[in-house]
Amino acid sequence: MVTMLQTLKKCTTRIGLGLVGAAALTTMATPFIADASPVHAAEIGAKHVSCPPATTAKYDPEYGVPASLVGEDATTTTKNAGTPYSSIQCYDASGQLVAYGNDAILYTFPASALAPLGEKLYQQNCASCHGTKADGVLPKATGTGYPNLRGLGPATINFWITTGRMPAADPKEVQAARKPPRLNPFQANAIAAYVNSLEPAAPGIPSVNVAGANQTTGQVLYALNCAACHTITGGGDALANGTYAPSLHVATATQVAEALRIGPGNMPVFSGNLTDDEVRDITAYVTESIAKPSDIGGVGMGGLGPVAEGFIGLALGVGILMLVSFWVGERQ
Ligand code: HEC
Ligand code: HEC
Repeated sequence: MVTMLQTLKKCTTRIGLGLVGAAALTTMATPFIADASPVHAAEIGAKHVSCPPATTAKYDPEYGVPASLVGEDATTTTKNAGTPYSSIQCYDASGQLVAYGNDAILYTFPASALAPLGEKLYQQNCASCHGTKADGVLPKATGTGYPNLRGLGPATINFWITTGRMPAADPKEVQAARKPPRLNPFQANAIAAYVNSLEPAAPGIPSVNVAGANQTTGQVLYALNCAACHTITGGGDALANGTYAPSLHVATATQVAEALRIGPGNMPVFSGNLTDDEVRDITAYVTESIAKPSDIGGVGMGGLGPVAEGFIGLALGVGILMLVSFWVGERQ
């Protein structure tokens, strides 16, 4: 009998330790990285990048950038870092820059022909808060201070509309939440075309060549630059003063690249410090690995995030261990 009890106690301890161990493993588990593709250099004249139809491609920044478009971006002299200072520039017949980028990301300005439609949509959906001229000025200045939208660039307008943050549900909210978008991508483009026509600016709307990405580099860069706020699993986390870094499980590749280049809300702007190559690698890692983690075993807990999952693991593990110990103890 004594030996049986001892064996039982040993087993219990092992099961308990096993559970705690499993919880710890769940906490530490990072998404599995598929085979890394070779480092892909974005370079001048890259074959797969094609400028929009009816534009002329120029494969060198020495051709210059229209002064009206440069603005503050001119201060970022890092080539291929989201500004028109990029390897590839696409000009239309009238000499206007309609897209720029490189092998990793092509940034496009929505067609100016969409601006009249965009103006209508803007007046219906945005003017009540951002002013009829998109300058953030309302008829009777109430001091509420809705942001001025001029000169932000199409990527900013596109990001806030396509993630459903705009039109805002409640302007008094600390942070506009992501929600199903009220306007479709075409309408978002039209509004971006209109707002950009008032004060042209970069960045354009990024389309990311995720196929050519190196996800191993992406994972390292993600851990260094993003995990502090969004957590290593991309589940998101609370920040100071009622703000939060949202989950990264639903953002599209374009939205991830936009977020990095524009820095929405309390997120920092990653402009000159990350090249387009690096942004592409991070984007691929976020949309391919974090958003669709391969099943590495263990119990699914609905992606609550490492802290919550760790607590559940601990509570279950230690709790069961305690219950069994009480039971064993009473028998003696
Ligand atoms: C009900 C009021 C309201 C409406 C309508 C509205 N917005 Fe906003 N908008 C806000 C508020 C408030 C913020 C600040 C939100 C935050 O910081 O989270 C904001 C922020 C933004 C930003 C970010 C500005 C920046 O400096 O980063 C953009 C871009 C934007 N809105 C675009 C739009 C567009 C485009 C529309 C129409 C489709 C629209 N908004 C409709 C209230 C509104
Ligand atoms: C200082 C904290 C912080 C860091 C660092 C940070 N973010 Fe964010 N991020 C935020 C906040 C806050 C928001 C929400 C902004 C808002 O809605 O007003 C956000 C929003 C986003 C979104 C939009 C998600 C959605 O579904 O709408 C993406 C994508 C994103 N971040 C990716 C990244 C990546 C990738 C990195 C690393 C290169 C990063 N962030 C670094 C705080 C941060």
